[in-house]
Amino acid sequence: MSDSLESPRAGSGHADGEPLPPPHGGHDSHADPLLALANVEVLYAEVILALKGVSLSVPRAGCVALLGANGAGKSTTLKAISGIIDAEDGRVSAGGIIFDGRSIRGHDTAGVVRAGLVHVMEGRRVLPHMTVAQNLIIGGHMFPSTVAMRRALDAVYQAIPRLSELRTRTAGYLSGGEQQLLVIGRAIMAEPKLMLIDEPSLGLAPRMVEEVFAVLHRLREQGLALLIVEQNTRVALALADYGYVMEGGRIVLEGQADELRANEDVREFYLGLDREGGRKSFRDIKHYRRRKRWLG
Ligand SMILES: Nc1ncnc2c1ncn2[C@@H]1O[C@H](COP(=O)(O)OP(=O)(O)OP(=O)(O)O)[C@@H](O)[C@H]1O
Ligand SMILES: [Mg+2]
Repeated sequence: MSDSLESPRAGSGHADGEPLPPPHGGHDSHADPLLALANVEVLYAEVILALKGVSLSVPRAGCVALLGANGAGKSTTLKAISGIIDAEDGRVSAGGIIFDGRSIRGHDTAGVVRAGLVHVMEGRRVLPHMTVAQNLIIGGHMFPSTVAMRRALDAVYQAIPRLSELRTRTAGYLSGGEQQLLVIGRAIMAEPKLMLIDEPSLGLAPRMVEEVFAVLHRLREQGLALLIVEQNTRVALALADYGYVMEGGRIVLEGQADELRANEDVREFYLGLDREGGRKSFRDIKHYRRRKRWLG
């Protein structure tokens, strides 16, 4: 394993030689970030270069949003960080990934989880035939004792009271929003420092989007750092302090969440509309159809 990242401080900014963005109040990217990516490249099937030098950082508290159109490389970025990329015929072919002061590039997902980083993948992958409680207990499989596991379970029920109400229900029969809460709950069973979460609002009714984001707000208040991929930019930028916009496997824009919210280029060009004003995108060739809600 070879990392080009020499220090966790090298995290922010674009490709080599470009100046770092001016220090912004909210984004603590230069002072000991929790997660730092430096010039990360990802290859799928040894031929498709899906990430072309991605650098970003996540501070030890708060939320960073990763935004961009279909196929921009958002999910690939999260998969590269958590190591799941290896299971999808991809690999990190260059760059450094530092989490909590240590390189995690090329580490297996279980080791990354133990280090305190969890990845809530898109698609709400619950175990459908098991109850809510059983799904959560599976998220706590690493605990050395039943007592420690029970304590973590209680903490999840405290953080997400709705899951406590649903604890005996079969996961497969829950609504999409309830399943989203369940996968978030299962992830925090591991008592992480950082959660990567991919499109939690996708396909949910507005009321459930609110409920899921209320939970994310609460977890954030409790000290969990978040890196969120969303196409619902309105809710994402309301939760996040800082955001990065991706296009074609690169970060093309970054800034404070409120600046991005106000930026017309972000709204018109990067967050869903192509330069001709249409909404052409990779979704047409994806294996399932889904509604994207770019502008909230
Ligand atoms: N397993 C794979 N094998 C080959 N190419 C892939 C694979 N997964 C993703 N890609 C390609 O990598 C690029 C980035 O995909 P990725 O899923 O990261 O985009 P995304 O920003 O998450 O898009 P979306 O908004 O549609 O979820 C796309 O061109 C995609 O087709
Ligand atoms: Mg994606």
